[in-house]
Amino acid sequence: MKIAVVGGGSTYTPELIDGFARLAPFASEIVLLDPAHERLEVVGAFARRLMAAHGHPAKLRWTSDVDDALAGASTVVIQLRVGGQAARISDETFPLACDCVGQETTGAGGLAKALRTVPVVLDIARRADPGAWIVNFTNPVGIVTRALLDHGFKAAGLCNVAIGFQRRFAATLGIDPSSVVLDHVGLNHLTWERAAYVDGVDQLPGLLASHLSDISSEVQIPAEVLASLGNVPSYYLRYFYCHDLVVSEERGQPTRGAKVAEIEAALLDMYADPTLTSKPELLGQRGGAFYSEAAVGLIASLQHDDGGIHAVNVRNAGTMPFLPDNAVIEVTCRVGAAGATPLPAPPLDAHQRGLVGAVSAYEELAVDAAVHGGRDRVYRALLAHPLVGQHTQATRLTDDLLAANRDHLAWL
Ligand code: G6P
Ligand code: MN
Repeated sequence: MKIAVVGGGSTYTPELIDGFARLAPFASEIVLLDPAHERLEVVGAFARRLMAAHGHPAKLRWTSDVDDALAGASTVVIQLRVGGQAARISDETFPLACDCVGQETTGAGGLAKALRTVPVVLDIARRADPGAWIVNFTNPVGIVTRALLDHGFKAAGLCNVAIGFQRRFAATLGIDPSSVVLDHVGLNHLTWERAAYVDGVDQLPGLLASHLSDISSEVQIPAEVLASLGNVPSYYLRYFYCHDLVVSEERGQPTRGAKVAEIEAALLDMYADPTLTSKPELLGQRGGAFYSEAAVGLIASLQHDDGGIHAVNVRNAGTMPFLPDNAVIEVTCRVGAAGATPLPAPPLDAHQRGLVGAVSAYEELAVDAAVHGGRDRVYRALLAHPLVGQHTQATRLTDDLLAANRDHLAWL
């Protein structure tokens, strides 16, 4: 089975390849695709050493030729970043002028990323084999996956938030992660863990009772919020529940993008060392923990119809009756060759319904703006976003977003 990795020159690629090397005997050919030749050489050669160190027999190669990489690939993993860390730093800073959070997937910064990214991802998908599964890691995952599905592609969107909680809860309970089934609901980067089933018994109330303050500091959301909701919101809900606090913190510190650029430079130096044959510890300072396990597990289920349970970005199709069927939601699913099907779960409560409804409407408008372009579509998406919502801010953010992304938006 041939797997193409789009954005294969990413410093994250060794994380993914490490997962393939350990857990994906089904991979026979892995092709890394990236326009950045020099980076690709360094990452590609290290990826090859990782495969060899695990004795994995797959052929691993790299190219900047899109059609060569995609031809015959039955799985296309997309993890690209248009504009690199410089564009991310812009996403993390321009909203601050309007007292809005600067973040690469949430709020106005997330919209900027979506506008840059959706056309590029759709172009890749059009060039892939028609039967290929597109496993999308590219942020903002919910919006990008919705655009892919709207255009008729076989796509599943993936994030590591759920697998992170699964591993974390399993470690506390002292059990194997595979025996924890989460009730994970919401939209990408707007999710709550409502239950953690072990042999059909929900262990989350006990975990919350005994580890509330640890869990609260891990997600950086006050314990009172978790206690009141009775569930565990993802770290990304901090941008909603603690919005103004985050804005004031962001004003006083360097961006995450700047920090990541430093980590990436150091990682590339390490990868270039021909004696390095395992993932450096420094990679653990990136946010992508367990991302390779999540990817390998999902690909195995899609290609081998194993009925595995994964948190996936899928069409709503009635799962949340208050959303349109074509919305994309992130929920715990059973996955087989036909795709991902949400597991039965209770309805969302009023609090979740309100946020999910508003952000999903924004996502619909964001896809429209990214696919069709136009200043007014960008403005409408921002006006709908619950973290923007006002005319003055939406107008200024539209202008600033467009000015900062002039080189990346073909329709401007
Ligand atoms: C988590 C999120 C990803 C995001 C990453 C950022 O893993 O689920 O969607 O890309 O964090 O990590 P970084 O190291 O780039 O800040
Ligand atoms: Mn994510």
